[in-house]
Amino acid sequence: MLWIASLWLLWASSILGAPVNKQRQKVLLISFDGFRWDYDRDVDTPNLDKMAKDGVKALYVTPPYLTITSPTHFTLLTGRYIENHGVIHNMWFNTTTTEKMPYYQTLFINEWWDNGTLPIWITAQRQGLKAGSLHFPGTASSYQGQVAMVREWEPPLYNYKNETTWRENTDKVMGWFRDQDLDFISFYFGEPDGTGHRYGPDSPERQEMVKQVDRTVGYIRQSAEQHGLSGHLNIIITADHGMSTVYRNGLVEEITLTKIPGFSFGDLSFHLVDYGPSGMLLPKPGMLEKVYNALKGAHPHLHVFKKEEMPERLHFAKNDRILPIILWADPGYVINGYFPVQFNKGEHGFDNEDMEMKPFFRAVGPAFHKNLEVGPFETVNIYPLMCHILGIQPEVNDGHLNATKHMLVTSATTRDKNMNLLQNVFTGLAAVAGFLVVVFIVMTSHKILKNKRKNKRSENSEHLPKNEKTKQTSL
Ligand SMILES: *[C@@H]1O[C@H](CO)[C@@H](O)[C@H](O)[C@H]1NC(C)=O
Ligand SMILES: *[C@@H]1O[C@H](CO)[C@@H](O)[C@H](O)[C@H]1NC(C)=O
Ligand SMILES: *[C@@H]1O[C@H](CO)[C@@H](O)[C@H](O)[C@H]1NC(C)=O
Ligand SMILES: *[C@@H]1O[C@H](CO)[C@@H](O)[C@H](O)[C@H]1NC(C)=O
Ligand SMILES: [Zn+2]
Repeated sequence: MLWIASLWLLWASSILGAPVNKQRQKVLLISFDGFRWDYDRDVDTPNLDKMAKDGVKALYVTPPYLTITSPTHFTLLTGRYIENHGVIHNMWFNTTTTEKMPYYQTLFINEWWDNGTLPIWITAQRQGLKAGSLHFPGTASSYQGQVAMVREWEPPLYNYKNETTWRENTDKVMGWFRDQDLDFISFYFGEPDGTGHRYGPDSPERQEMVKQVDRTVGYIRQSAEQHGLSGHLNIIITADHGMSTVYRNGLVEEITLTKIPGFSFGDLSFHLVDYGPSGMLLPKPGMLEKVYNALKGAHPHLHVFKKEEMPERLHFAKNDRILPIILWADPGYVINGYFPVQFNKGEHGFDNEDMEMKPFFRAVGPAFHKNLEVGPFETVNIYPLMCHILGIQPEVNDGHLNATKHMLVTSATTRDKNMNLLQNVFTGLAAVAGFLVVVFIVMTSHKILKNKRKNKRSENSEHLPKNEKTKQTSL
């Protein structure tokens, strides 16, 4: 009997003493700005290839419209289409005062970013996790008074191309995970966007920059390993939009608004043009029809929409910040106001159905399948995926786990881990209860045997009748 009891004890203690819950999984979300889905096709990318072999690769992903940096990054952080999160442009503007602020200054305008939708950092922290961000658009802003607990934004006139700095930043982020035990970090690189704009997506310069990105991907995974993180860190690498070659004068008839008969900037009280292939106009009172009719159909590659006529699929209308007339150009074209003022060889901001606007997607880590290539999905779905891995309740969003859950190793997901935890707790409790019962039996039978011996009526304890055992147990 004592022998059985000690076996129980051994079993129970082994279960209770074992680490019932493996360490919570972490997520690192990385964006390489403007990394088009097919940039790995004309360049050797051994590290990206290795990552695909060790994890998941999507053929491409579809960004939200408008395909520009701040709006699409905020979709990655919130899972909401741009009309729903409110960060509708890279630039802050006020139509009353006609003030505008460029991308970098806009990073520091809280009211621009904090427009009713919480980024994942805040949601994670409210649910007891720790979040950080390095250079990711939206990092410098506060949301309902809260900020990511560890954060860093780039100084003005930052050199976004320096590979040494990329490595220093990588080690810094891995240090945050290890030393401050962060659960989630978003990490931003400003390339290959800059090079794609300047030299065009088909240039050898862009190819060289993709090699630099690839080396950095290798460095990121190596650094994760060196920081002892590979066992519980999931790395998602994607981008905000792609890049398209711009056709220049001589090759095509450029879109210049003042050349369009019947159009006058005098009919507008505010406009956002000269920022690539998209534009928004606020006509003066009573001038909307005139402006609209002048522009509609004026150039074969210029699309002109009243806000309420915008195609539903673009999800870019239902927001007070979006102006009454929206313009966009076909790939290859940009919208100039009076005359061309910017001479980029590459641009983005086009229709998100255009293949050249699609970013890449890779993921590796304990939550993900290995060597799996999946079909395309919208980037709104990355947010619920990350929330699921982190085990947090997502905010209302426009994505769905359905779109990405086939990438996940189910046993590695947090929900399953919680189930395991629950199971372990129950088994543990059962073991303790079992142990107590056995101790009770042993003690009781021991006492009875002693009594029996005392009374000199002892026989062999093994021959105690079964029903007597049961009876004693039920005492
Ligand atoms: C724009 O500026 C006007 C005048 O200063 C101000 O009343 C208004 O609140 C501002 N609007 C926004 C959206 O900042
Ligand atoms: C969003 O910003 C607009 C001004 O651009 C403001 O009128 C509106 O109240 C803001 N909404 C929230 C929820 O912050
Ligand atoms: C890149 O960054 C490193 C380390 O911060 C610095 O020493 C180096 O001068 C930088 N190189 C360029 C070209 O800016
Ligand atoms: C998710 O997938 C399940 C099973 O295929 C389906 O029943 C459900 O309607 C889907 N939900 C959404 C929002 O797509
Ligand atoms: Zn961008």
